[in-house]
Amino acid sequence: MSSKTLSVVGVQWGDEGKGKIVHLLSRKAGWIVRYQGGNNAGHTVVFGGKKYALHLAPSGILVPGKRAVIGNGVVVDPKALREEVRMLVRRGVSVKGRLFVSELAHVILPYHILLDTLREEGGRGIGTTRRGIGPCYEDKVARLGIRVVDFLEPATFRKLVDKNLKVREAELSRARPIKKIREEVFRDYETLRRFLKPYVADTAGMLAAALERGEKVLFEGGQGAMLDLDFGTYPFVTSSNTIAGGVAAGAGVGVRHLDGVLGITKAYTTRVGRGPFPTEQFGTVGDYIRTEGREYGTTTGRPRRVGWLDLVQLRSALQVSGATQIAITKLDTLSRVHPLKVCTAYKLGRQKLTRYPASRSLIYDAEPLYESFPGFSGDLSQCRKFSELPKGARDYVLWIEKRLGVPVSIVSVGQSREQTIVRDPRAVWM
Ligand code: IMP
Repeated sequence: MSSKTLSVVGVQWGDEGKGKIVHLLSRKAGWIVRYQGGNNAGHTVVFGGKKYALHLAPSGILVPGKRAVIGNGVVVDPKALREEVRMLVRRGVSVKGRLFVSELAHVILPYHILLDTLREEGGRGIGTTRRGIGPCYEDKVARLGIRVVDFLEPATFRKLVDKNLKVREAELSRARPIKKIREEVFRDYETLRRFLKPYVADTAGMLAAALERGEKVLFEGGQGAMLDLDFGTYPFVTSSNTIAGGVAAGAGVGVRHLDGVLGITKAYTTRVGRGPFPTEQFGTVGDYIRTEGREYGTTTGRPRRVGWLDLVQLRSALQVSGATQIAITKLDTLSRVHPLKVCTAYKLGRQKLTRYPASRSLIYDAEPLYESFPGFSGDLSQCRKFSELPKGARDYVLWIEKRLGVPVSIVSVGQSREQTIVRDPRAVWM
């Protein structure tokens, strides 16, 4: 039987190029669903000669006729969503009747962004995107959160905001008077409420019905496994479960419906923000890859930290998401890098580690052990078949596949949708 759902997840520290792959696979889906995170994500999609930077809406919104869902596990900044919808409409993408926001998703309000910023600037920072993601999830877990359904009810909303501002008063009033912060929340409230209302739905119910009808659903992860709240490099993580396991709770879909899992990795590694990064490269190699790969954040514009591919990290990530296949992106960026290196294990004292350690202190002592490859040259961006790649590039991919024990079904060699090598279309998603 062909599978009805596919979860596409990042298996590094985010920015793996999920947006492009999801957009490509969206053609086969009826529904594209985000299940965690918020507008901290930045998905760049290039097609038809145009570039789109999406933060909240699933990348499938760009494919005509597809339905896009922002699930209950997502944290929604109504203002950011309005901006994104305006941008899409301005560029000719219709969203009416195609974009649905879960009534159970929690809303990010201006004071969440303020708290995020205060902490980043007050010495407790981990290098967040300052979009209020962490503080909003904190409220959710503390049972103080304000959901989309609450946002739509003015009296309920008012009451909850006042309660929350009281709880947060000590911290917030260091920035400005609570009265001012309250004003910020209500300044735009009525227009935002009216904007949001038509998109709000029981999305879990809609997805259940769609699956019942045999329609195909694609789940689009934000960030990556190493930023997962449980399995990432804690505390330098985001505040949600980015791994494939997050799909069931974050979209309200029964686990029996979850089929394939496609893990996306770059051909090298990047990370934004603070935290451990064992294979990081500071010298000319790192600078070269950053420039060639345009490694600057889609959301914040920050230069990304760059390093070699790390199989220790990838093995753990693929395992916790139960990945059934892999897509390798940005292989073209590594052209002319001689030699190429891949980390196969960490040396820690006399121990050799092949799994990512849990200790937040020991990881800084882990010394990556590398295997070297001669590398490859030439313009890969025109290759459309695996056999057209230079031998050095094929060897690199095949070696990674063998060492990870998971098939590499997609190789991406450029930003646009056409610049993709699909090794076996039937293996990806039928
Ligand atoms: P937050 O998600 O804004 O709270 O940030 C927590 C950590 O996750 C920081 O290290 C961010 O740089 C990182 N992060 C959040 N979203 C993304 C993303 O889409 N790509 C890469 N890193 C991200």
